Amino acid sequence: MAVREILKMGDPRLWRVAQPVAAFNTRELDALVADLFDTMEAANGAGLAAPQIGVDLAVVIFGFKHSTRYPDAEAVPQTVLINPKIVHLGDAEEEGWEGCLSVPGLRGLVPRAAHIRYSGFDPQGAPIEREATDFHARVVQHECDHLVGVLYPMRMRDLRRLGYTEVLFPDLADRSDE
Ligand code: NI
Repeated sequence: MAVREILKMGDPRLWRVAQPVAAFNTRELDALVADLFDTMEAANGAGLAAPQIGVDLAVVIFGFKHSTRYPDAEAVPQTVLINPKIVHLGDAEEEGWEGCLSVPGLRGLVPRAAHIRYSGFDPQGAPIEREATDFHARVVQHECDHLVGVLYPMRMRDLRRLGYTEVLFPDLADRSDE
């Protein structure tokens, strides 16, 4: 498997609406998932979506025990989520800082639904359904946005809250997205 190039903001392939996965439990899908994990781990990411490596399919991965990029975030289960759907549970929103491997060097304050239910499938086609709050809910919403051509700055309400990680978080040890 391989560490793939991560597309950066400005590449029009990041604006596509991803195609649903039609066949599960295939060597092609397993190879894609392995490349996503290799690429995410090499970048110390908290999540990654297939469009970020130029693959036009509705596949995201996320999860970590402890993220050096988000040291205050609680653990999120290691997950492969295919053809996802998100339902907001209630109207509550929370603002939180996000970065993106496709927007290196920057962080922004982004409003997200505070409580969600998400569903989809694993690579074998088994259904996944979970509720999530806090950073778990945030990372799922962020990754699934990549499947509809949305990067986090497009969700921001105040672009003054977009800035360089080294300026906003000078004490953060791991600024490896830069
Ligand atoms: Ni991202």
